[in-house]
Amino acid sequence: MALNATITAIGTYIPEKVLTNQDLEKMVDTNNEWIRTRTGIQERRIASNGQATSHMSVDAIKEMLDEYDVDPETIDTIIVSTVTPDMFFPSTACLIQEGIGATNAWGFDLSAACSGFVFGLETATQFIQSGRSKRILLVGADTMSSITNYEDRNTCILFGDGAGVVLVEPTENSEYGILDSLVYCDGSGADYLNMPAGGSLNPATHETVEQGMHYLYQDGRTVFKFAVNGMANVSVEILERNNLTGDDVDFFIPHQANKRIIDAAAKKMNLAPEKVVINIDKYANTTAATIPLGLHEIVKSGQLNQGDLIVFATFGAGFTWGATLLRWGQ
Ligand code: UT7
Repeated sequence: MALNATITAIGTYIPEKVLTNQDLEKMVDTNNEWIRTRTGIQERRIASNGQATSHMSVDAIKEMLDEYDVDPETIDTIIVSTVTPDMFFPSTACLIQEGIGATNAWGFDLSAACSGFVFGLETATQFIQSGRSKRILLVGADTMSSITNYEDRNTCILFGDGAGVVLVEPTENSEYGILDSLVYCDGSGADYLNMPAGGSLNPATHETVEQGMHYLYQDGRTVFKFAVNGMANVSVEILERNNLTGDDVDFFIPHQANKRIIDAAAKKMNLAPEKVVINIDKYANTTAATIPLGLHEIVKSGQLNQGDLIVFATFGAGFTWGATLLRWGQ
């Protein structure tokens, strides 16, 4: 029997430290009004010194394992979507495996920036469908503060830190779980959103550090144009190819890069505003963590019910973009 993959558990972690727009006004030439109206962000969370992506992830996973009573030794696969791994190697998946005692799991990191969670879900789904994995831990986590230049007003207002994790397992009920997924990339967008140094192209030197090449770079205006179209189009495409309309969708959980990009996608899908999950105001852009953070909020608040239809959509560096169609339940 064909197996569907479904999400059976979720956990999240956000750091305690809050960095508000007013705090940023004291650091760079910006103002609360500009940030709020141009992005929808009011505050973001920042990891403490020494707190890395694996640490936030382990906290999120432990919360999930406790709440859903899952034994870490039953996990067979760990996928970590992140662009801010603790180190280039070993993978953050290995560090997490050790941190939670998942002694029977293999794992790896996946680099797709803001699309990491959607790409990770597509990957996890295929492992489940092939029968090779039965219990996958999919982490979307980023410590964006570690690659953000807090002297650059173009980027430092946009990002925050956080981690989310879901358990992906098979279900024999073909009406539930991941029903469809679309994933795309277009490397001609690489110049507009990247971290120029620290890899094999520009290894670390005094010069790369002095020139700020280890920080995230973004041509915001260009990325905005591609993101508005990319996220809206992929959201509509996944509905249309499943003969659905916005009326059929119970929740739209988009990547949280800019409230204006989210609004444009929701409009193109003809969605009622209460179906759109938004937390960019509290957490800003946490890259691979935005979608699990949004999902966990509607799980915790009791809004999400068995059988609800959810669309995830994203757009990010690469460029990468995609969408997932999910019926909640198993
Ligand atoms: O998650 C991965 C994908 N990333 C995205 O999807 C992000 C896409 N881009 C965006 O969200 C937006 O482009 C930004 C929020 C980054 C910028 O908004 P914008 O409306 O595109 O502004 P802009 O870059 O066109 O700048 C408009 C003006 C400029 O001044 P002038 O040249 O018009 O005088 C900027 O210098 O706003 C100025 N500006 C700021 N002013 C106050 C830029 N940053 C700031 C700031 N505070 N922090």
